[in-house]
Amino acid sequence: MRMVDIITKKRDGKEISDQEIQFFVDGYVKGDIPDYQVSAFLMAIVFKGMNTKEISTLTKLMMHSGDIINLDSIKGIKADKHSTGGVGDKTSLVLGPMVAACGLKIAKMSGRGLGHTGGTLDKMESIPHLKIEIDEKDFIKQVNEVGLAIVGQSGHLVPADKKLYALRDVTGTVESIPLIASSVMSKKLASGSDTILLDVKFGSGAFMKDLNSARELAKTMVAIGKSLNRDTRAILTDMEQPLGLAIGNSLEVQEAVLTLKNKGPSDLVNLCLEAGAIMLVQGKVVSTLDEGRKKLQEVLENGQAFLKLKEMVVAQGGDVTYLDDLSKFPTAKNIIALKSKKAGYISKIEALTIGECAMRLGAGRKTYADKIDMAAGIVLKKKVGDRVEVGEVLCVLETNGDEYIHILEDVLKAFIIVDKKVSLPPIVHEYIK
Ligand code: URA
Repeated sequence: MRMVDIITKKRDGKEISDQEIQFFVDGYVKGDIPDYQVSAFLMAIVFKGMNTKEISTLTKLMMHSGDIINLDSIKGIKADKHSTGGVGDKTSLVLGPMVAACGLKIAKMSGRGLGHTGGTLDKMESIPHLKIEIDEKDFIKQVNEVGLAIVGQSGHLVPADKKLYALRDVTGTVESIPLIASSVMSKKLASGSDTILLDVKFGSGAFMKDLNSARELAKTMVAIGKSLNRDTRAILTDMEQPLGLAIGNSLEVQEAVLTLKNKGPSDLVNLCLEAGAIMLVQGKVVSTLDEGRKKLQEVLENGQAFLKLKEMVVAQGGDVTYLDDLSKFPTAKNIIALKSKKAGYISKIEALTIGECAMRLGAGRKTYADKIDMAAGIVLKKKVGDRVEVGEVLCVLETNGDEYIHILEDVLKAFIIVDKKVSLPPIVHEYIK
């Protein structure tokens, strides 16, 4: 078999056989097939797509390219969730403790971020001494004892995705439904949980720019999960504006803590109640979504959800005093309030622009080698639907850098203000199961 024949076959829109996909995955992981051929193949997939059978074969082969985590020694149903990523997305840090406080076991492996802001792991690292590299034995022990662990992926989980994702990142081949679906699902399936909830975001700050493509991605991933007998469901959620108010690593951890203390912004709270209710149904903790929402509201009100986060932080060696006293988190040198030049109603807060500006303030990485400034970011004071007057603060920028004038101008452009009242968009648009 020759890689060039597989490339031309896909270039011409033909179906690739299971054997050909195996030849490609094995050959690339072993280093027998060079990056330039794989780049061409990936671009052919971007343009010609893959059918369900091809995607499912690719996912299974990627999943088996490295370790498969066995969670059998954890009692009960193990649940996992995954977000396709967005601006201000600190959902895992809120949802994990909420559902674990309701009795569901969460064994979650997360990633780091590239672009906008950090990933869940980067955010967690703003809590001093918190360990995220935990070996499998301790990870399983923690989930059994605490009911919740969020850790870094084991070094040998889906090596095929590690290589492919790094290449896609620099060859313009990230935005492809077959490639995103196989990348996400190979990692989720290899992580060993019984149930998977996918939070597929759409809008300016997401990979999927519109509801239709988010729906297609969600359906593709749900079908892959089901074909491997995992209870896999998805929600399609709004990423036209940032989620919650905080964008930036330590700022998002602080917002997660406030949310767990029942003082969170309404879009984040609603998302966690809806997603959490589905997870509780999947985990057979409750039998209806309504029952789930009530249980989750209870753990927010009685402090058990916040307590669960603290238990996890203690188990992973983190300094829990930061969670009790948020003023201990370091603040940035420059804190700049951005005021509105116009009165009216906020109709849009361009999520991608806000994410990119947060990154330029120091909150994200341009390359994997970049260091994140944990204190940097943006805190919104207004959200879509809010009324604003001239001179009122739209948001606050926090940075240790001194070159922020152009960033301020760009953030201001991200706020679209109109004369007419704007209705609030729902956060969860669809539930797919
Ligand atoms: N997240 C992933 O893990 N993979 C993708 O391809 C896109 C987002």
